[in-house]
Amino acid sequence: MSKKELESLPGVGEKIADKLVEAGCDELMTIATMSIGNLVDICDIGEKTAAKIIESAKEISDVGNFKTGMEKLKMRENVGRISTGSAALNELLGGGIETQCISEFYGAYGSSKTQIALQTSVNVQKPKKDGGLSAGAIFIDTENTFIPERVVQMAKAQGMDPEKVLKNIFVARAFNSDHQILLAEKAEEVLKNNKVGLIIVDSLTSLFRSDYIGRGELAPRQQRLNRHMHALHRLSTTYNVAILVTNQVMSRPDVLFGDPTVPIGGHIVGHQSAFRVYIRKSKKNSRVARLVDCPYLPEGEAVFKITENGVEDIK
Ligand SMILES: Nc1ncnc2c1ncn2[C@@H]1O[C@H](COP(=O)(O)OP(=O)(O)OP(=O)(O)O)[C@@H](O)[C@H]1O
Ligand SMILES: [Mg+2]
Repeated sequence: MSKKELESLPGVGEKIADKLVEAGCDELMTIATMSIGNLVDICDIGEKTAAKIIESAKEISDVGNFKTGMEKLKMRENVGRISTGSAALNELLGGGIETQCISEFYGAYGSSKTQIALQTSVNVQKPKKDGGLSAGAIFIDTENTFIPERVVQMAKAQGMDPEKVLKNIFVARAFNSDHQILLAEKAEEVLKNNKVGLIIVDSLTSLFRSDYIGRGELAPRQQRLNRHMHALHRLSTTYNVAILVTNQVMSRPDVLFGDPTVPIGGHIVGHQSAFRVYIRKSKKNSRVARLVDCPYLPEGEAVFKITENGVEDIK
């Protein structure tokens, strides 16, 4: 939105428009989905004015939000797919990790969530014919699991120049959940200025878990997590990038039959992830991935392995 257009929003004058631009909040959808407190802080205005601005942004963006089926189909035509490194896993996902949506990989320690994240941040850089998008990756690292040496290993295995590959991955370490949310918002700057095809958040939930510990904190935790997912989802459609988030599991004591492991964050995370993939360790270095509640692909499983080269098919 231009500054002129911002100023035409009821409640926004020149001064407020300036502050919105300065804060990088110059998109209608951003303003429409902001909290009152957030807007108050950014623009240094009263709550009433903030509420009015958000309300009018909501009204206008809602009208603009209706898309025809044809427009939706056109958007879908631009969906890109990133190879995971395993043809079997790609097939399970309908061709690879899709842009314009969030894919969640969840599983226990060592199930290979981080390996998949690192591998796709390498693969996204390949040309389309080789399963990439000729684009870079953003890696939001919450557990210090971005290990450059491992990326070098994977890049070499693909015959790629490791230095080039590393230069094309924008890594940021998140120190707490608020910082993580902020980094996702800041990612927009990187997206505007670079060709990026993938955003990784590894892990999505670990900092939220440690920041909101008590029972009474579950609701605020879920709210913040929801907002974070919303922001990520918006980036995925606005910039046609894939979002890959990893998630740990916990054991639910009330599940007596079947597998009691469930992803952290439950419905909030699930609701916003188009693809949920549960990974578990199997014999030797093999892994089993299962696609869970995908709206348009059949449930199924794929087997792959983790080797020195990275994510591979079992031959
Ligand atoms: N260089 C390598 N060569 C072979 N296998 C490797 C190599 N690096 C990692 N692995 C395999 O990947 C596993 C670790 O997987 P990863 O770190 O992706 O798990 P994770 O699901 O992210 O776990 P966490 O929940 O702890 O983050 C190791 O146990 C090992 O089996
Ligand atoms: Mg990990």
